[in-house]
Amino acid sequence: MLPNVLPPTETDHVPVLADEVRELLAVRPGETVVDATFGAGGHARLLAEDLAGRGKLVAIDRDPGAKSYFDRFKARAGVDVRFLRGDFALVLAQLAANDVKADAILLDLGISSMQVDRPERGFSYATDAPLDMRMDPSSEPTAAAIVNTWDERELVTIFRRYGEERYAAPIARAVVRRRAETPFTRTGELVDVIKLAIPTPARFGEGHPAKRVFQALRIAVNDELGALEAALPAALEMLRPGGRLAVISFHSLEDRIVKRFVADQAKGCTCPPDFPVCVCGKEPTLRSLTRKPIRPSQLEVERNPRSASARLRGAART
Ligand SMILES: C[S@@+](CC[C@H](N)C(=O)[O-])C[C@H]1O[C@@H](n2cnc3c(N)ncnc32)[C@H](O)[C@@H]1O
Repeated sequence: MLPNVLPPTETDHVPVLADEVRELLAVRPGETVVDATFGAGGHARLLAEDLAGRGKLVAIDRDPGAKSYFDRFKARAGVDVRFLRGDFALVLAQLAANDVKADAILLDLGISSMQVDRPERGFSYATDAPLDMRMDPSSEPTAAAIVNTWDERELVTIFRRYGEERYAAPIARAVVRRRAETPFTRTGELVDVIKLAIPTPARFGEGHPAKRVFQALRIAVNDELGALEAALPAALEMLRPGGRLAVISFHSLEDRIVKRFVADQAKGCTCPPDFPVCVCGKEPTLRSLTRKPIRPSQLEVERNPRSASARLRGAART
């Protein structure tokens, strides 16, 4: 188990696209809201305000550190609130299986500043720490396990796919060479190997040279794309007719998953066009609320650089 989180403060996490999420989810008093990525509770606090004293908010997070933020939130929420710790894909599926219904569901993907800013979690390339990166410290694998055991081809694939790393191949080669002598245990060791594996000018290029590999490892460690793929149908099953779903993604692969899911669910009949009558009987289950993803304003990006890559999509249950 990782060391306890620091005491939460008001400035822990600035909720991204907060007004836009609020507008899209249009929460009304008396409704049931699910914040499936509670984090430090920034969005949850605003959505609870919209419930105006009547309704329910279910908070989900796989990181046990979120519980202390939830306890603070609960004390002031003014509505019925509950915290469920676990992977949102599993928790949403369990809630749906138990016929729990929701009017609004939010997924604000990725990691929160409370995770990045705690060096001992190993998410950051900026400080030397154990090479961990698990949102749920009881899950497997750690980032160290991936870099020490996955074969070179798999490493190239994730560095390229999840990190869009140009130098995926030389970095993976250098990782495999170094681990044959001494396995990786610390973030600093990986940063050093990445720096030496890329051409000198790239070390001083845009952003930190280890940024993309760290992002790739984090996505792989936490199976972030798999969790999203599994969560969307479960969220749909939970939504009442007219219920709204909002998803904030920070990676083009995540955004593509959301876009495709909404487009598929918004389609009615899938019979071939030359069929005289419909035989599939498929009805649309979602209506898209965002033709294009909503991006943060320039002002928001200036105030909160973390929001720069955010894309928000929304849909309503038919
Ligand atoms: C970007 S933060 C959310 C921040 C939050 N909206 C706020 O305003 O404070 C994402 C949170 O979702 C959690 N998370 C990410 N993937 C998850 C998953 N598959 N299941 C449960 N929680 C997850 C992370 O642990 C993190 O706390």
